[in-house]
Amino acid sequence: MACHRQLTFYARVKILAIYLLLLNYLLCTAEVFFFFQPHLVLGLLSQIIKIQLLADLNLKKTPQLLELVAGDNSKEAEELVTLAPDKMLLKWMNFHIKKAGYKKTVTNFSTDVKDGEAYAYLLSALAPEHSSTTMIETTDPKERAKKVLETAEKLDCTRYVTSKDINEGSANLNLAFVAQIFQQRNGLSSNKVAPVVQDTPDDVEASREERAFRLWINSLGIATYVNNLFEDVRTGWVLLEVLDKISPGSVIWKQASKPPIIMPFRKVENCNQVIKIGKELNFSLVNVAGNDIVQGNKKLILAFLWQLMRTSILQLLKNLRSHSKDKEITDADILIWANNKVKESGKTTSHIESFKDKSLSNGMFFLDLLSAVQSRVVDWNMVKKGEDDEEKKMNATYIITVARKLGCTVFWLPEDIMEVNPKMILTLTASIMYWSLQKHGPYEGPGPAESAASQEALAEEEEGGEEEEEEEGEEEEEVVEEEAKEEAKEEEQEGSPEDGA
Ligand SMILES: *[C@@H]1O[C@H](CO)[C@@H](O)[C@H](O)[C@H]1NC(C)=O
Ligand SMILES: *[C@@H]1O[C@H](CO)[C@@H](O)[C@H](O)[C@H]1NC(C)=O
Ligand SMILES: *[C@@H]1O[C@H](CO)[C@@H](O)[C@H](O)[C@H]1NC(C)=O
Repeated sequence: MACHRQLTFYARVKILAIYLLLLNYLLCTAEVFFFFQPHLVLGLLSQIIKIQLLADLNLKKTPQLLELVAGDNSKEAEELVTLAPDKMLLKWMNFHIKKAGYKKTVTNFSTDVKDGEAYAYLLSALAPEHSSTTMIETTDPKERAKKVLETAEKLDCTRYVTSKDINEGSANLNLAFVAQIFQQRNGLSSNKVAPVVQDTPDDVEASREERAFRLWINSLGIATYVNNLFEDVRTGWVLLEVLDKISPGSVIWKQASKPPIIMPFRKVENCNQVIKIGKELNFSLVNVAGNDIVQGNKKLILAFLWQLMRTSILQLLKNLRSHSKDKEITDADILIWANNKVKESGKTTSHIESFKDKSLSNGMFFLDLLSAVQSRVVDWNMVKKGEDDEEKKMNATYIITVARKLGCTVFWLPEDIMEVNPKMILTLTASIMYWSLQKHGPYEGPGPAESAASQEALAEEEEGGEEEEEEEGEEEEEVVEEEAKEEAKEEEQEGSPEDGA
């Protein structure tokens, strides 16, 4: 098992190494920027790489990290739980080099590690058997970087960082380098066991929602990348960026401060603006103040984010209507649409009362809905007939797979279907509806026109057997077009947050 994990890690590192080199190369090639403006793609790519490399930098995967906290400082330990992985890596590095006698603190993976001194201390602390005192004593940074890499190699760190990368302070490559050293030898005592924190059902649910909202925010294409939702929203800045995306022009950037924010009242100011805009959007925010977000009140943060997500979804659907644009779409409209769709497809027994309907749990309604919007998309051989939870989960997993195959973005987990999480049910239904309306033409509201149109669409689908592949091609084009539009929009808006800072 351990061996297998190691192998996959090496495989991962090799692939990532290639990506990183490519990334660095592209970043240095001005022409590429000129022709493709690939900063968004590259940004995303480097984020994916970071997530991969830093996967073990949390207390769940590496409980020994608790050793970084001196004594029984519970507040600091709590902070450790929410620390972003790259920050965790910095903390880990400083922990070792301080013990080894290095006087400075490393705050980033570029300027601060350029001279290779911190690395010399780190490696002599972690691998004294491979280190010589000359590594630390060398005065020439180039020479030192070379010695550092030689030592790292003895620790089985694949060589994909050059001494030049170290001396030039390439942030991406240095981060990857340190992550790899961590992976090979973290130097923490293995007998330290994390305190047993019993997850209450509330915690489990909160962490699933945290994940969903985090994925959602990161899918919006805002400038900030969210690593840890509860921690990262506390400055208010990310929320302002999201609000500006969903309700363009609503944020007064002049009155906002961009992180890093030193003065606490600036955070409160940002969050107060967040609440103010929320109220303008008619969110339910009784007795909620900006300071609650600054304090990291999870319940209120989740409640706020859900209203944001829901608004954004309803807005997307509303924009698909060709006329009566000013009429709001409601949750009920989505419910009616879904029930109608299933009924039209001939599944007259499948019907849900609400997004809380417990019968949704076995996945039957969603499978019927998916095959109603796109015949043949559901392979009924994959559907489990049984009764136990295992098979229930397989049904739920399959639903998410099929929805994704159609091109719906799903931020939730199979458990959310099994347990009938109404938020998940609403968003999943809405994204299937969005997909279907985009494909089959605008939504005119439930009525004869709509049902006739969808009957026609259905009939069309039944006709040709080869049509599916063609359609998939079209879909891809649409996605690309969408992305291009998104990018164009971003270009336009790019100035605004900076202006305010
Ligand atoms: C890294 O941190 C140092 C301070 O420790 C700072 O002077 C330097 O500008 C930072 N470099 C980058 C690229 O942020
Ligand atoms: C909020 O509610 C008020 C009164 O019901 C309405 O006039 C306004 O348009 C709503 N605003 C939004 C953004 O929905
Ligand atoms: C899986 O879905 C099928 C069809 O929708 C349903 O009949 C069956 O009961 C589900 N299985 C479980 C274990 O819930």
